[in-house]
Amino acid sequence: MKRIRILTVCLGNICRSPAAQGILESCAAEYGVDLEVDSAGTGAYHVGERPDSRSINALADIGINIAKQKARRVVLEDFDYFDWILAMDKDNLKHLRQLQPESSRAKLVMFGEFSDGVSFGEVGDPYYGKEDGFVKMRERLQLMSQSFIEHLAARS
Ligand code: 4NP
Repeated sequence: MKRIRILTVCLGNICRSPAAQGILESCAAEYGVDLEVDSAGTGAYHVGERPDSRSINALADIGINIAKQKARRVVLEDFDYFDWILAMDKDNLKHLRQLQPESSRAKLVMFGEFSDGVSFGEVGDPYYGKEDGFVKMRERLQLMSQSFIEHLAARS
């Protein structure tokens, strides 16, 4: 299977999408799938920052280190470079659709709704909540990542 490029996208690129990136990378290694994963935000509030410490901690608890990631905003070139752009919620998806050039190569989907017959729905924004919201986010992302990678493996 050839290398597949994936961009995970949320609003701030400090909570959900960096976590999704870390989990997808870890899942890919486990399944032996060749993925290049990056993450970005539709907003620019946190550009240049490391992930939120609550996301870093929730991922460190399962042995995944996302502390070195740095927030960036989605750029138009992303629509050409990546094979898949995975939005965490409907607002992200709407914003990405507005940005998406007509010639976009990337498949733009909700992370939770890529697969026929399976919908995990949105990954809610945990930013204004408590730590347990970050554990729930992680668990949701783990399920989605596993299904997504199984979906890719089945397509190859
Ligand atoms: P994320 O969470 O989109 O999962 O990174 C958020 C982080 C920061 C803000 C909103 C959502 N903010 O408004 O600063």
